Amino acid sequence: MTPPDLRGVMRTFATGVCVASAYRDTPGGRRHDAMTVNSLGSISLDPPLICLSFRRGSGFLGDLLAAGCWAVSILPAGERETARRLAMPLPARATHVAGLHARPGAATGALVLAGASWLECGLRQRFDLGDHTLVIGQVLTAGHHARSPALVFLHGGYHTVDDPQAATVHLSGPGHWGEYC
Ligand SMILES: Cc1cc2nc3c(=O)[nH]c(=O)nc-3n(C[C@H](O)[C@H](O)[C@H](O)COP(=O)(O)O)c2cc1C
Repeated sequence: MTPPDLRGVMRTFATGVCVASAYRDTPGGRRHDAMTVNSLGSISLDPPLICLSFRRGSGFLGDLLAAGCWAVSILPAGERETARRLAMPLPARATHVAGLHARPGAATGALVLAGASWLECGLRQRFDLGDHTLVIGQVLTAGHHARSPALVFLHGGYHTVDDPQAATVHLSGPGHWGEYC
């Protein structure tokens, strides 16, 4: 059987764009890291659980697992350049991490980006699956901004989704996703 073109299919799946942040405490002090991710998933509301998937051997993943906690910031449309820079490998992205407009989150100490909706998480479980590791996070604190144009990743590029219909959006009924709207 021909191997499925998973990458080709997933390029057609529009996702939001996030920055995951973690850190490592070294003798020289706390070294923050942050990288662009789009594998954010919502798993459970009660308890509040989310997931992210990282390439095995990822330096960022090593920091996250060592710290046992992390933050994830959902980027608004204006942060395209931040997304591009934080998708660079280390050490190239380190200078961009140092220049981020961000604050340490109250629950974890991991960086939370200004102007973004955010979640702070403690590591609940990890699963090594194929060439990636899935981390499940218990949400410790969270905050969000009023509707603003969103940054979207589709067909290998960044796009902006505005919501001119915002005032006339109708929900079909209560449910898992309706509660967020
Ligand atoms: C839009 C976008 C989303 C990404 N999402 C992920 C992701 O969910 N998980 C991942 O491991 N890498 C993801 N990447 C790739 C990493 O940002 C990039 O490879 C980074 O350099 C990895 O750093 P590391 O070597 O410390 O893992 C994404 C890249 C882009 C541009």
